[in-house]
Amino acid sequence: MRKPIIAGNWKMYKNLGEAIELVRQLKENLADVVSVEIVVSPPFTALAAVAAELSGTNISVAGQNMYWEEAGAFTGEVSPLMLKDAGCTHVIIGHSERRQFFGETDTTVNKKLKAALKAGLTPIVCVGETLEEREFGGTMKVVEKQIREGLEGLAPQEMEKIVIAYEPVWAIGTGKTATPQQAEEVHEAIGTIIAQTAGGVARNIRILYGGSVKPDNIDVLMSQPNIDGALVGGASLQAESFIRIVRFKNSK
Ligand code: 13P
Repeated sequence: MRKPIIAGNWKMYKNLGEAIELVRQLKENLADVVSVEIVVSPPFTALAAVAAELSGTNISVAGQNMYWEEAGAFTGEVSPLMLKDAGCTHVIIGHSERRQFFGETDTTVNKKLKAALKAGLTPIVCVGETLEEREFGGTMKVVEKQIREGLEGLAPQEMEKIVIAYEPVWAIGTGKTATPQQAEEVHEAIGTIIAQTAGGVARNIRILYGGSVKPDNIDVLMSQPNIDGALVGGASLQAESFIRIVRFKNSK
């Protein structure tokens, strides 16, 4: 049985004071949760403070991005070791906003993924199709390419350590969630693709859904056999909605 993960991607929101206030509420209200892995991903400026506030709790911290070198003259970049030093255990890689606005490709995703694993961070690798790609029937082709090229060269034991997030680009921040059936269909197909390269360990790889996840749709999403968690944007910015999402009702 794969342990579900609920991760909050705060994107470019929350100053330091707001970040600390939010995680204080989360840690007070989620301290009893043992059956779900909880992750928050604040902006870089709040990582160290949030990680210090959450130290010794059941909530982990993720970077939203990183560069693949350990150190060097790379102005504006943050290394995997710096994320670890700030208290992160996870890192989001290849989010569609990074692909769309900052030129990330499957090649850069692959380099970042290997660097994250080398540093001992758990990568949450994002894949997903645009509306145009879905309408032209290319969803599986796009997702398969992102997975094959993004994960290229990883040994099965390394693959086992990664988390995949399926985030259809058209469902992000739009209020349009993929139907549970649409999501389940892609999750199942992703499972098949990773099984072809990772073999038996594919069974242990968790696949999260992301895109307009809210308190009112989490239960049905989490009831799908191949949805192992959620990567939550907007609804992770308020304690109340994120707490409800973490406390989803599972009818698997
Ligand atoms: P929303 O939940 O705001 O649609 O964002 C999803 C997302 O991009 C999480 O990484």
